[in-house]
Amino acid sequence: MEDLSDYRKSYDKNELIETNIPEDPISLFQKWFHEVDESSDQETNAMTVSTVGLDGFPKARVVLLKRYNEDGFVFYTNYESEKGKAIVANPHICLSFFWQTHERQVIIKGIAEKVSPNMSDGYFESRPDGSKLGALVSNQSEIVASREVLENRLSQLEQEFAGKEIPRPDFWGGFLVKPISIEFWQGRPNRLHDRIRFILQEDFTWKIDRLQP
Ligand SMILES: Cc1cc2nc3c(=O)[nH]c(=O)nc-3n(C[C@H](O)[C@H](O)[C@H](O)COP(=O)(O)O)c2cc1C
Repeated sequence: MEDLSDYRKSYDKNELIETNIPEDPISLFQKWFHEVDESSDQETNAMTVSTVGLDGFPKARVVLLKRYNEDGFVFYTNYESEKGKAIVANPHICLSFFWQTHERQVIIKGIAEKVSPNMSDGYFESRPDGSKLGALVSNQSEIVASREVLENRLSQLEQEFAGKEIPRPDFWGGFLVKPISIEFWQGRPNRLHDRIRFILQEDFTWKIDRLQP
């Protein structure tokens, strides 16, 4: 058995203190996002989406954040995938980011809804043709007999759509996650990490609390 009990790091790069915190969490998210993005080559917009599945189990997987503002956080996927079906049945989901270079974590609980077909069309159109066809080819999360089956389907579609516009399939589009709480975690020395949580109030202001590490 591999023993990892001595595998640990001390965190000392940054701090998150009340005097530097804006009143709304989206501004803080934006500040952190850009700080990370400007000084690392990781995919800063890669985030873990956790859903509770139709089988009652939580499942987490990485997707790419494509847009965010005061309304919430948007990612694109196949609506018929395992996550798509899980979200339709239970739209209470969680998004999380681990930005290792800055010893930061952000955890967003929110309620997901499909974005308008218009908005999904807009993003789909901006994708390269290969990605568009990839979305058409894949019945995401379904079993497939072999890789060859997918590659053959892709070649067929490449011929079918050569020189033509590739339409967005109805089963593919965006989810907007409207946040109800956003927690910011900054690693600190001696495991006394900073945790600041914003909770959305009925009057749409944010209640800010410090949580114990
Ligand atoms: C870096 C990275 C980015 C990804 N981006 C997306 C994405 O934007 N949308 C998506 O549907 N899947 C994306 N995936 C694949 C998902 O992690 C997952 O395999 C897929 O969505 C099927 O998940 P499901 O079967 O739980 O629905 C990405 C994976 C990685 C590692």
